[in-house]
Amino acid sequence: MVNEKVIVALDFTTKQQVEDLVIKLGTDLKYVKVGMQLFYSLGSEIIEYLLEKDLKIFLDLKVHDIPNTAQNACLNLAKLGVHLINVHSLGGFKMMNDVITMQNELIGINRPKVIAVTHLTSTSDQDLNQTLGVKGSIEDHVLKLAKLSQSAGLDGVVASALEAKVIRKSLGENFLIVTPGVRLNTANTHDQTRVATPRDAINFGASHIVVGREVTKAPSPSAAFNKILDSIS
Ligand code: C5P
Repeated sequence: MVNEKVIVALDFTTKQQVEDLVIKLGTDLKYVKVGMQLFYSLGSEIIEYLLEKDLKIFLDLKVHDIPNTAQNACLNLAKLGVHLINVHSLGGFKMMNDVITMQNELIGINRPKVIAVTHLTSTSDQDLNQTLGVKGSIEDHVLKLAKLSQSAGLDGVVASALEAKVIRKSLGENFLIVTPGVRLNTANTHDQTRVATPRDAINFGASHIVVGREVTKAPSPSAAFNKILDSIS
């Protein structure tokens, strides 16, 4: 179902802002992302509200800590009843593997899918090479981290559309590839650097795209949302 491929990022602070957008997007909206801004403001209250609205939820908190802390944090996120959570692949193999092992042992809870952030879509080759001092291209590095995530047992990764093709080819059809940095007009990047159109992202192999400001800051959020749905239908 095409609507379930488009995850709308609710990068807001108040419940009123969330309610307004949910009303504007109506029943076409199936999947939302709650990130740090909203969760740190409203916590589980906003998750309960969105679940009542029958929406699927990607809780994007990018967990990155020592294995014991990360696995227990993710256990608490699973108990909220969300559908997708994420950790940071730079936490390493053991952190990711301990998280997924504990999730797989859950009894009486439908565990969420667990994916790993590779490199933020705001990071450029220049950031990687010069600022962080890491050699090689972002694409090679993202693929390496995606392979590490799969070998640790994770369900997928967050990566930009620009790496989706190589990840899909290398890691198979069932691996989730969730791509933020999506723009109808790729000249309009805001703070993102590795961007693509929704259609290209899906054609390159993304299982889901994340759209934030392209919808939330549009003069008509519902028109922008429908344009995105149409472009990938
Ligand atoms: O407004 P925009 O479409 O750029 O929002 C992208 C969303 O995806 C934001 O909520 C951001 O936190 C999130 N995200 C990202 N890059 C990642 C992981 C998450 O942009 N690698």
